[in-house]
Amino acid sequence: MPTIIDGRKTSEQIKSEIAAQVSEIKAKGGKIPHLAAVLVGNDGASQTYVGAKVKACEQVGFESTLVRLEETVTEGELLKVVQDINQNPAIDGLIVQLPLPNHISVEKVTNKIKPEKDVDGFTPANVGRMTLGWPAYVAATPYGIVELLKRYAIETAGKHCVVIGRSHIVGSPMSILMARNEYPGNCTVTLTHSRTKNLPEIAQSADILIVALGKPGFVTADMVKEGAVVIDVGIHRVEDVSKKSGFRLIGDVKFEEVATKASAITPVPGGVGPMTIASLLHNTLLAAEGKIYSK
Ligand code: GUN
Repeated sequence: MPTIIDGRKTSEQIKSEIAAQVSEIKAKGGKIPHLAAVLVGNDGASQTYVGAKVKACEQVGFESTLVRLEETVTEGELLKVVQDINQNPAIDGLIVQLPLPNHISVEKVTNKIKPEKDVDGFTPANVGRMTLGWPAYVAATPYGIVELLKRYAIETAGKHCVVIGRSHIVGSPMSILMARNEYPGNCTVTLTHSRTKNLPEIAQSADILIVALGKPGFVTADMVKEGAVVIDVGIHRVEDVSKKSGFRLIGDVKFEEVATKASAITPVPGGVGPMTIASLLHNTLLAAEGKIYSK
């Protein structure tokens, strides 16, 4: 049996570490970290995610502000909300939940966020700093994966890491982080995508396989080397009449069959997913402490 990399347990551990740090800050009369989340419209998944982020803030003792805006809000109005939060000294971290309605430019809104408060790590300033290896807010999913590799003491130096998927929020930053000259990192990295030739052969040569392409059950056992570490970023609902909800969650990896070959693997649910909120809290704590931009 492979090691099951338990993101749920790890994220709870991180949350309790953060809660302990908040207690210390409180005891010393320091600044309580404060996260502002902006949610536009009524998208069900976005409401669930933002609700979970606000709840996690409460759990660890952070302050939080949820700003809800109508689907019909103009780009200018949203930019003004972001600007007001940028200038509000009480607020340390700011996230604008994506996706945004089509009439609003994600690039413009992202670029409006003050890099010092960009705890999602989405602004060009933070992506650039991360790429240079400078102190930076790293996006929640890549940071969560790095933290799992660390806490499970997965060896990375000299390994071949294959990343499937080149999205701005997962695949691309993950490839950069795994190639960095530090732990976890020092991998030889191959970043693969929809135009890659011989993807199954390349995946098969991975010591560490990070799958973030958004296709349910894409990675099968024949694409995985014996003893590989497999990180599954996918999350999909599939119909399941045996469940009360009528569905179950699966990843980009066929877990049952791949688990027979992997040395360690993240499950879905309970792997990478729960780590993203822990990462956001971590970044918000850094923001309150002013740690990233002081360097
Ligand atoms: N939508 C999906 N994932 C994310 C995330 O990490 N941050 C924000 N702001 N929106 C998202």
